[in-house]
Amino acid sequence: MFLIETIKGLKNKLNELKETGTTGFVPTMGALHDGHISLVRQAVSENKTVVVSIFVNPTQFNDPKDLERYPRNLNADLGLLEKTGCQIVFAPTPEEIYPGPDTRRFNFGALETIMEGKHRPGHFNGVAQIVSKFFDIVQPGKAYFGLKDFQQLAIIKEMVSQLKLPVEIVPCPIVREKNGLAMSSRNELLSAEERINAAVISKTLFEANKPFEQKSVRELAEWISETINKNPYLTVEYVEIVDNRQLQPVKSWDDEGEKVCCVAVFCGKVRLIDNVVLTKKTK
Ligand code: PAJ
Repeated sequence: MFLIETIKGLKNKLNELKETGTTGFVPTMGALHDGHISLVRQAVSENKTVVVSIFVNPTQFNDPKDLERYPRNLNADLGLLEKTGCQIVFAPTPEEIYPGPDTRRFNFGALETIMEGKHRPGHFNGVAQIVSKFFDIVQPGKAYFGLKDFQQLAIIKEMVSQLKLPVEIVPCPIVREKNGLAMSSRNELLSAEERINAAVISKTLFEANKPFEQKSVRELAEWISETINKNPYLTVEYVEIVDNRQLQPVKSWDDEGEKVCCVAVFCGKVRLIDNVVLTKKTK
């Protein structure tokens, strides 16, 4: 496994391996856990060469304290990646990626005006800046993204379509802790007690997914919000039930398409997101 820190070094290595256009690519911000590793393993099973990037991208953080607090542990990450059989780890410095300010502005329309886009202004512009830069450098044939960041996945697909990039976006399932908590690098920032209580988020989403048609869409969203907020460690930022394509709020269960319930919840100072596809019907 090669650890590469410069764009030139990475391009040279990919040329040497004759891997331009066919590489599998997994972008990450490090502090790797089994969720990330599942993406890497899938990439390794489907591609001859896999590049994993580790880069805490400053342009997608709208809160400087969040950027400062974000966990970083390159050595542990390299240990985990070594076991997956991936060939290249790309871990550049911010200066290497952004020698000057990136002034590009993307427009994702209604996709970015709700949920994460609404509550973290500029976040998806930063994500699109970094992912498009990485796609340009790595020229992957396939790139792997987790359904944990459901809206991010929709934004990336839209970006690929707008820029007409020759890359297949592969969605990967959410990996959870034993207690149901969606794995996240941010979980490292939770105390032991917070971690236990944070499991109420996924527990409530799974519970909501039982006979949901007995409640209206609005009643179900309210029930989820109230149930999570009852836990003294948790404060809901939003609960949205949206269609899985346009990510627009669903008004009635009769609306077309698959419905996904997305939440953002503060557990102490740590902001967590999760989602579940609503599947069970009772009619
Ligand atoms: P990061 O949060 O490190 O996540 C990297 C990838 O791992 C994303 O595609 C994310 O959806 C996926 N992932 C995280 N937790 C997961 C889980 N529990 N199960 C399955 N997949 C999971 O997302 C980012 O970084 C950044 O925004 C990035 C795309 C790298 C751009 O900077």
